[in-house]
Amino acid sequence: ATIRAGSYTEELLQTAKSIASPGRGILAIDESNATCGKRLASIGLDNTEANRQAYRQLLLTTSGLGEYISGAILFEETLYQSTIDGTKFVDCLRGENIVPGIKVDKDNGLVPIVEPEILLDGDHAIERTLEVAENVWAEVFFYLAQNNVVFEGILLKPSMVTPGAEHKEKASPETIAKYTLTMLKRRVPPAVPGIMFLSGGQSEVEATLNLNAMNQSPNPWHVSFSYARALQNTVLKTWKGQPENVETAQKALLIRAKANSMAQLGRYSA
Ligand code: 13P
Repeated sequence: ATIRAGSYTEELLQTAKSIASPGRGILAIDESNATCGKRLASIGLDNTEANRQAYRQLLLTTSGLGEYISGAILFEETLYQSTIDGTKFVDCLRGENIVPGIKVDKDNGLVPIVEPEILLDGDHAIERTLEVAENVWAEVFFYLAQNNVVFEGILLKPSMVTPGAEHKEKASPETIAKYTLTMLKRRVPPAVPGIMFLSGGQSEVEATLNLNAMNQSPNPWHVSFSYARALQNTVLKTWKGQPENVETAQKALLIRAKANSMAQLGRYSA
């Protein structure tokens, strides 16, 4: 079969493949300034450019991050920010072999991450989430195909199939994995190289356990993570805006990144 050639096709496929490489996933730090402000407020910091810069510098200069992280999704502001000593954040990432990306609506030459948002609010059972997710992904893939999107050059960022956030019972990682994989197998062609889940308000350990459960048997795609909160919560709480905590906070980031890397390989144990 031929792949519909566009000038960027080859580059797209390479980039998508490198992001979907074994034992690695995406660090999502594409919080808008407003959302970043909420994160900073949770540790008592003002939403100033200096504080956003300091926080992003902490995340993006974590040495060794590239072993577990293959891509970072940045907010546009971050694309042009630098470390205090003048190294562009994107160059810090390249130094770790991490592909930088941004949130945009148009993207020749950029690997598109397809992310329809299915809200988790509600007291519905997991079956209802499965039904809605199947409808949403059927429609998304219909339009991707209609628009001649090269499936080999995209990544998906779905939410896991879980019960609604206010449902009376929590589901086990095995149940979440079963429903989520059922949905993916019914709806996502194997040509798509990577499925990068968002954490959607799950705790750090839940997000890792759920990902690990999904990787207990081989999948047609690279099933991995694109977590924001589930990689950042402890980092933020450890940092507290204090320069003397940066090193410990970076260690906390590496611990979560490594745990999710193991989960991507299906080898995580708590
Ligand atoms: P969470 O992992 O916090 O749900 O965020 C992922 C995401 O979509 C950020 O772009």
